[in-house]
Amino acid sequence: NSVENGTVTWESPSNIALIKYWGKRDPQIPENPSVSFTLSECKTITKLTYTKKNDTKDFSFDVFLDGDKKDDFKPKIETFFKRIEVYVPFLKDYHFTIETKNTFPHSSGIASSASGMSALALCLMRIEKDLSTTLEVTEEYFNKKASFLARLGSGSACRSIEGNLIVWGKTAHIEGSSDLFGVKYPYKVHDNFKNYQDTILLIDKGEKQVSSTVGHQLMHGHPFAKERFAQAHDNMKALKSILETGDLNAFINLMESEALTLHAMMMTSNPYFILMKPNTLEVINRIWEFRAETGLHIGFTLDAGANVHILYPQSEKAQILEFIENELVAYCKNEEYICDVVGAGAQRI
Ligand code: PMV
Repeated sequence: NSVENGTVTWESPSNIALIKYWGKRDPQIPENPSVSFTLSECKTITKLTYTKKNDTKDFSFDVFLDGDKKDDFKPKIETFFKRIEVYVPFLKDYHFTIETKNTFPHSSGIASSASGMSALALCLMRIEKDLSTTLEVTEEYFNKKASFLARLGSGSACRSIEGNLIVWGKTAHIEGSSDLFGVKYPYKVHDNFKNYQDTILLIDKGEKQVSSTVGHQLMHGHPFAKERFAQAHDNMKALKSILETGDLNAFINLMESEALTLHAMMMTSNPYFILMKPNTLEVINRIWEFRAETGLHIGFTLDAGANVHILYPQSEKAQILEFIENELVAYCKNEEYICDVVGAGAQRI
């Protein structure tokens, strides 16, 4: 790669929050701390080609998804570029071609914003590194700034740079935590959580009726906002001893409570809305019954949508996956589901 032109490619994973980020203020500052597992199979692969242009007046870029030009992605990227311009001074010096693809199906209801924005942020960081002649770009600086930039694209994207457990949002309970970027969870994690499984049931593939941007905004003036934000801090504290001791029952209790609280915030905002579908509730009830019958450590969480993430330890994979395939896949649209596992973070390719 030269100063005139070059190409960089990164793949970056999605992540699934255990303690949910819901509510933000400018510039993309979370109202409460969150923590997520980095995934490994659900990811975005982005190739960024840069070519020096003659003027430095405006941003200039084209976006392709699976080879098709996607002009409807441009406003979101334009907003992202505007937010990061001061931190990425070369942004107006080049024309960029952004070629991107996801490993998960289109409009599957799996948010591609975390993997997509983190992949793009990493490509830009790599260009910064290639262009830099004076600054020594350490791995720590690289990851921290990539996370910082990704956050300005989509909040949860800042948790997709590294693995396996990432905290975002300042809290007294996590040393080194920041509102500006994600950090690796710094305390002991029990082996029960090694290779933790996430089977994602694709319940509804339609476009979300309410975007997460709107959802975050609705936490302003929300009657339960103050209590919810305080609860997230308390839950970060509670999670610490759960992760240390490997108490899976307590883990499931906290994770499911967080998922339902997220949706409770949606149902109690003004305007109120519901993103769960009848099959979301069917699946949740079947999970509860199966857990009571078997004593296996199967639990669920939800994102801002109808899909159900089923989380469980690797040691119980055979029995739980058999149950999912025999009984739960029937509730999915076109019987589609994705088997994922906790991962180590993004990679350059
Ligand atoms: O990153 P955003 O703005 O799309 O927000 C995502 C928020 C949730 O996925 C619902 C929760 C989370 O912490 O990931």
